[in-house]
Formats: sequence, structure tokens, C-alpha cells
Amino acid sequence: MIGENHRPRFRAVSQEDRAALQEIVGEDALSDRRGDLEQHARDAGHFAGQMAELVIWPANAEQVAQVLRYCNDGQIPVTAWGAGSGLEGNAIPVCGGVSLSMTRMNRILDVHADDFQVTCQPGIGHKDLNEQLAREGLFFPPDPGANASIGGMIANNAAGIRTVKYGATKDNVLRMQVALADGSLIEVGSRSIKQSCGYDLLHLIIGSEGTLGIVTEATLKLTPLPMAVSSALAHFPDVEMAVEAVVAIRGSGLEPAALEFMDAHHVEMINRSEGMAMEEKPTLFMEFHHSNETALQVGLEFLEEICAELGATGYRATADPAERRKLWHVRHHSYEIMVRSHPGMNFLILDVAVPISAYPALIHAARERIADRGAVGYFLGHAGDGNIHIELPFPEGDERAYHAALALNDDIVAEALALGGTATGEHGVGMGKAHWMEREHGKALGVMRSIKETLDPKGILNPGKIFPQDVPELIHA
Ligand code: LAC
Ligand code: ZN
Repeated sequence: MIGENHRPRFRAVSQEDRAALQEIVGEDALSDRRGDLEQHARDAGHFAGQMAELVIWPANAEQVAQVLRYCNDGQIPVTAWGAGSGLEGNAIPVCGGVSLSMTRMNRILDVHADDFQVTCQPGIGHKDLNEQLAREGLFFPPDPGANASIGGMIANNAAGIRTVKYGATKDNVLRMQVALADGSLIEVGSRSIKQSCGYDLLHLIIGSEGTLGIVTEATLKLTPLPMAVSSALAHFPDVEMAVEAVVAIRGSGLEPAALEFMDAHHVEMINRSEGMAMEEKPTLFMEFHHSNETALQVGLEFLEEICAELGATGYRATADPAERRKLWHVRHHSYEIMVRSHPGMNFLILDVAVPISAYPALIHAARERIADRGAVGYFLGHAGDGNIHIELPFPEGDERAYHAALALNDDIVAEALALGGTATGEHGVGMGKAHWMEREHGKALGVMRSIKETLDPKGILNPGKIFPQDVPELIHA
């Protein structure tokens, strides 16, 4: 159910619409088969699925633009689809209409190796992109774990484990081609690293979750692959000591390329499911990128000293590629392993972030709120960025427990905002964070609404997201 205040008037997709859209993209690029609709109905989060009426797989930017023009004229909603790895229902077509799957637009268009840049289509997975870029000795650093598509990463301003050194997606995009609701194609940004020419539409579109336009091409900023890479694990007697160590490591000048926190429950679960033997204590997972082996050795010695001083009970560093790959594999799949290890349970996953100095206070407050409500919550986060995911389990289909988890989620978001933080560091607003938009942004939310109305006056682009009045009642799977 869409809030009445801003309820856009949508039309159901008719046979005539289907035929007209088929003219644009061709017969094999459009489907209303149930299996296809189901595959585009749910993301990796806890929300119930909602099927579009048609899935369309455009082959190029012109087709995207033409589909948008047709749907805009016909008042048909269009929700872009990347890899389906989002967690806040961002790509769920809650108002029906068209799910525009970008998966066929998955090519690298140009590697500008001398400029450390690549121009690609939005449907390519960031892992697939990096596999190809490795041949040039380059990589695109943002890494959200799942093989998210570049378009999805741009839509959510995804971040992940390497943000602490290299920034989020928004810091690594230079220019884009974007299809607007009215079917025009515009270019935003440029291939110059320095840009100061007018309004920053590039960063307006990044993080807008497909509500302002659909990215059809992007030029990304790349980084040379590091010469020497090490990973380290440090285990602490309690959560407080581990998170205090995060702040100290950030302040040490060591510049970690990843600084992740995991509670003892996650470590236990990973040991069990992946056959590992890590100390089952609050743990920091770290990675360091160096220009040479000597710098790597010096850095690791310094890190070991810091961790010992801060009370670590266990410490292990490695430069062995296979061991490092295993560590980061289990970190990347931690949420998935959590879900798999708890059959019958669904999870609400928080994504709050605060300034780094407030991180220990955030973790402390979150633990208190969880204890106050007699609940459980598992902690996993991009600690180096002041970002934490807290997984709140509730039995599938249990309304009361779901609402209790939502209330606890709200308690913790309130703590994050009070500490100068945000409701969501990297998963985006989607549906689950929309009711925090007013609290977090105040009058700026009105400015966002007027931008939305300017760029998408009929409200066809990913309706039901970001703006609290538009979001349907939250229903879990
Ligand atoms: C992670 C996802 C859940 O950090 O953002 O694993
Ligand atoms: Zn994350």
C-alpha cells in the first residue's frame, strides 16, 4: 500500500504496452513469465518479495532511454535491477510495472590505463570488473562483499571493506551517462580528476537508488594494485577493548586498507561452518597495502605492538595469498553464513555509522539497548569507517518478534544520530530506513522531494523508496 499523500497514479501494463516495449528491446529481452518475475522480486534482505509485471533486459543506453520515455508517457513504474544483492529492498518493484534488469549491459567499454580509469556499463559485477582489470595492474577498490553490479553500487553508494583507505563508490566515480525519466540521456561529471564546473549532478545521482535516473555508463577511478599485501587478525578479551583498538589503529598512521570488527558469535559460526580455528573472541580483521616488502614488515611489527599494548590476547599476520583469500572469503560471506546457520530465522540488518571517535560509544549504547529489550544482536562491521551492521534475528513469520526487532533497530539508529552519525552508511534507504529520513535530514528532505519532482515529475522511477510517505507498509518475508 502506497502512502496516499504522494501516491502516484500508475497504470497496469497492458498487452499494448507489452507489444510497444517489445518493439524497443526485441522479443527475447522482455518477459512476464512467473519465474522471471520471481527472480526480480526479492533482494538479499528480509523484505517480502513483490513482483513486477514485466522484466526487461535492455541491450544499450538508447533502449533504456526509450523504455523510460514510453513508461513515463504511460505512467508505468520502472525499477532498475542490478544483481539483487541489496539489503533494504532498494530494487524491489513494490509498485509493479517494469523491473529493468541491467544484466545484459555488462561490458567494459574502454580501459584508460594511463589515466587509471575504466569506462563500463552498469551491469558488470565489481568482481568481474576487477578480474579483467588485474591484467592491467589496476583495480576498482570499493568492495561490498557480494558481487554487486557497478550500477547497483552507484545507486546505493555502496562501500564495504576497503572504504577506510579508498573511499566509498562516490569517491571512485568520475563521470556517468544517465537516462532520465523523460527518455533523455545526459552526461554528468567528466574524466578529469579535478572538477568544479557547475552543480555536482554526478554525486546527486550516486546514492539516489534509481529514483532520479538510471545509470547507463560510468567512468570509474582506478588504483594500481598494491605491491605488497598483508592481512592480520587480532582477538580481544571483550568487545570494548576491540573497538577501542579500532580507534587507536586508525590514529596510528598505519592506514589499514580494511579494518573490520566481528563479535565472538560470528567467529564461532565461521569456525563451525568453514572449518576454521580462529580464537572465538571479539576480533579485528585487517588488511594493509604497502609499496614494498620492507614497509609491510615494519608495518606488521608496529601493528603487533599496538595490539599487544591494547590487550589483544591473540594476533596473527600473514602475507600468504591463499590464507588471505580464505580470511576475506569468510568475511565477505559472514552475513550469508549467519543466515544459513540459523534456519527458520530471518534477520533485520542495521547499517548505522558514526564519526570514528564515537564508535566505542555507539557499540556500547547498542549493546545496552539490546540488553534493555532482552534481545540478541550479532555485530559485524566496517569498524574503521565507524560503520556497524547489527543482525537482529526474528523467527520467520513471527509478527511480534519482527516488530520488536524494528523497535530495537529504531533505538539504535536514534543513538547513532545522537552521536552525529547516520541511519545508513552503505546499504541505502530503500524501504527500511525511509522513516528516518525526516529525523536525519530535517528540511533538507523537502529539498530532496523537490529535486525528485523536477527530475521525475510523474514519479515513475523506483516508486515506494526513500520518501517516507511513499513507502509501503513494511512486510518481511
Ligand atoms: C557486509 C554487508 C552486509 O558488510 O554489508 O557484509
Ligand atoms: Zn557492510
